[in-house]
Amino acid sequence: MRNLDEFTITQEALRRLEETPDPRLKQIMASLIRHLHDFARDVKLTEEEWLQGILFLTRTGHLCTDVRQEFILLSDTLGLSQLVVAQSHSRPEDVSEQTVFGPFHVEGAPKLPTHGCDLAAGIEGEPLFVTAQVLANGEPVADAEVDIWHADAEGFYDVQEDGWAVDDARLRATFRTDADGKLSFKTILPKSYPIPTDGTVGEMLAATKRSPMRPAHIHFKIDKEGFDPLITHVFREDDDYLDSDAVFGVRGSCIGAYEPHERGTTPFGEEAEDRFYTLDSRFVLHPLS
Ligand code: BEZ
Ligand code: FE
Repeated sequence: MRNLDEFTITQEALRRLEETPDPRLKQIMASLIRHLHDFARDVKLTEEEWLQGILFLTRTGHLCTDVRQEFILLSDTLGLSQLVVAQSHSRPEDVSEQTVFGPFHVEGAPKLPTHGCDLAAGIEGEPLFVTAQVLANGEPVADAEVDIWHADAEGFYDVQEDGWAVDDARLRATFRTDADGKLSFKTILPKSYPIPTDGTVGEMLAATKRSPMRPAHIHFKIDKEGFDPLITHVFREDDDYLDSDAVFGVRGSCIGAYEPHERGTTPFGEEAEDRFYTLDSRFVLHPLS
């Protein structure tokens, strides 16, 4: 086909997919082409803007390494990640809600005993004592694998340090629930923090006058055979950024009660002179059919 114009080119590009053997790939490619062409016509994209877009994506790719994924961050900040999560996990109301995974989870976090560990020994911050229970169908889920990770009191994750290796892990751990589906640990109170802004995503946020802030939270990833893996957050209810999360991840059901205690006996049986916090969370898993 020759002499294609800005309208007839779409039909021809779709025709070239006709021999695609994988029907799902064919559907995705066809929809992508239709939407891309509609987008370019809609905004009357100029050649210079097209090139700027290509160079932006090229720089985004160059920023990606084993420990940095600028494309996922771009997807997160455009709302695409949370959209895909939401449409992939519609489920009964009493089941815990899924949220974006984020870039700071790592495989191989320290495997710690179910109760009594301090993840923040020697790390500045207000003490936080967390208890959690994993349930399904109204029953405790024993021996579930629970991964947790969160930022420090300055809003940084350990993986953001130069030269970080998994042996340097802090404020992250993997636990297994006990016979009552429970686990507990001590850590520090998480704080709100900006997502990384030193790359192309930061440029995009600045150009659109958007806040890079995420409300304070702890990430939980819970796996148990026979259940949909749960990836979620527990946010602080007193946070200023709950309604403007840079990655659109806040669900009302994921806001936890981080209770302040001015002093007294901590859940670890220590006498605290200064303020400490407690958080008690329940997570409900969704059985796989
Ligand atoms: C996070 O909470 O760790 C996160 C999630 C999405 C993008 C950036 C950070
Ligand atoms: Fe986070």
